[in-house]
Amino acid sequence: MPDITKHDPVVGSEPKINGKLISQRTLQQTPPAVKRLREIKGKALAGGPPEKIAAQREKGKLTARERITYLTDDNSFREIGLLRETRCTDFGIKDMHIKGDGVITGFATIDGRRVAIFSEDFTQLGGSLGRTHAQKIACLMRLARKARTPIIGILDSGGARIQEGVDSLDGYGEIFSENVKCSGIIPQISIVLGPCAGGAVYSPALTDFIFMVKGISRMFVTGPGVLKTATGQNIDFETLGGTAAHSSVSGVCHFEANSEQDCFRQVRELLNYLPSSRWENPSKVSTNDPENRPVQMMERICNVDSRKPYRMHHVIWWLADDNKFLEVHHSFAKNCVIGFIRLGGSSIGVVANNPAEKSGALDINSSDKIARFIRFCNNFNIPLLTLVDVPGFLPGMEQEHGGIIRHGAKILYAYCEATVPKVTLILRKAYGGAYIAMNSKMMNSDLNFALPSAEIAVMGPSGAINTLYSKQIREAKPEERDALCAKLTKEYSDKFASPYQTASTGSIDSIIEPSQSRQFLIEAFKMLEGKRVPGEHPVSGNIPL
Ligand code: HXC
Repeated sequence: MPDITKHDPVVGSEPKINGKLISQRTLQQTPPAVKRLREIKGKALAGGPPEKIAAQREKGKLTARERITYLTDDNSFREIGLLRETRCTDFGIKDMHIKGDGVITGFATIDGRRVAIFSEDFTQLGGSLGRTHAQKIACLMRLARKARTPIIGILDSGGARIQEGVDSLDGYGEIFSENVKCSGIIPQISIVLGPCAGGAVYSPALTDFIFMVKGISRMFVTGPGVLKTATGQNIDFETLGGTAAHSSVSGVCHFEANSEQDCFRQVRELLNYLPSSRWENPSKVSTNDPENRPVQMMERICNVDSRKPYRMHHVIWWLADDNKFLEVHHSFAKNCVIGFIRLGGSSIGVVANNPAEKSGALDINSSDKIARFIRFCNNFNIPLLTLVDVPGFLPGMEQEHGGIIRHGAKILYAYCEATVPKVTLILRKAYGGAYIAMNSKMMNSDLNFALPSAEIAVMGPSGAINTLYSKQIREAKPEERDALCAKLTKEYSDKFASPYQTASTGSIDSIIEPSQSRQFLIEAFKMLEGKRVPGEHPVSGNIPL
């Protein structure tokens, strides 16, 4: 258990000045004003009543203050607003004198980098959000924006404080407004470590990344009770809004963790890839992984029948420095893969199709997943690598009526808008609209490569010959039909199911030796390090898609 007093040098620790213990006599001479400060702060730092803290632990949860301690560097947290209290006089809550009003706010460092951080305290009025609680969070967000530091919110709250009526709803309005002002300016990270209910879910939803922990995190607009009354449906909290539901079904959650500690480790890892604001570049990290390390895996891809599935994760691991890949949205829209790697020490955002799921076809959810990630990377100067193995957009009425046209267009918009360095590598299939969508040359891509196994065409061979030669195939004698189809397919494949035609038109810059992929990509991004496209697009936020 951490020492909760270590954040505040005036409480709990052995009193020292310049490293020397202060004598009892000197202590007795402590000015009354300082004594009073220590007394008041000591009480405030204790958090909610002991029975509420015990209840928090029984649920397997850390306290709000412990969470900050675990997430941040030792003794780096500096609290602001500890003594603020609610101004609401209804229901006797003013008389409770809840210092801090159920939320801890301040700044700290994580791996040496300055961050702003708030943590809601469920042991005080269920972490519910009143006007003061909201003002503290909004004030911290303004500070983070001015200081150009990432902001991290730890949420554990019963939502709008019922006793404060519309004041608490307005509090959320203020927070949402600040979320949007910070969007695309500083990274915003939400860690949901308890309930997050009602309209309260929309603040995390406006941030860039949401973390949840199995068994303790819950997000829902309408809880099981209201659902039962309104629809008669009987559903528990976990099934409705638990970590599994939001990681794999709704896509609300970007990172799922097994425990709070595991979650904080992942947050630190994520921060490592990000700059502190849009005015900075992500820091470089030195590596002993040779830039010219051969990637034998790529030769294997060239050998595999183009209809055979494989997990794109393997390709990404092999390409990345030290085989490290931080995947975002691991369990959602698994037909595409997004996340962060380093190449030659530089932070890179990866967007890839995943032939192991739905053959890697693009659909509604993968379009949203990819598009928002591209826009995040573009806002924060993170170059983009696109790895292509895509048979097309997923066909079907469900997709058409679900709005694949509207959703798929988000990928096109995001890539065309992005001005960070953009490099594409086509591994196998790149057909039709999906070829264009996956950062093709004419969508403002910078450098486009292909492996010799790439197949770039308007559509796959069987679809193409059935369209082009439907009359001949229909009129052929039944016993000759198979041979005719095989001949036509071969002719088509020889012409289009290779990258050479595309390379001859300039839509591919190079067909590369598969094992040299890593070196090629690193050098391409180095070449683009100085890329500047002044004034091409106005600054944009990271709107939820
Ligand atoms: C005031 C609240 C509260 C709230 C919880 N508490 N939610 N106080 N306002 N919104 C208090 C409880 O009264 C209790 O106080 C203490 O917090 C702990 O709550 P418990 O219910 O004992 O805890 P638990 O069993 O763990 O259940 C947690 C919970 C449940 C699932 C969050 O409290 C709950 O369903 N609360 C309401 C959630 C909700 O519907 N929120 C939406 C509000 S509307 P005591 O004194 O007994 O310790 C909203 C709209 C926002 O948020 C719109 C923004 C635009």
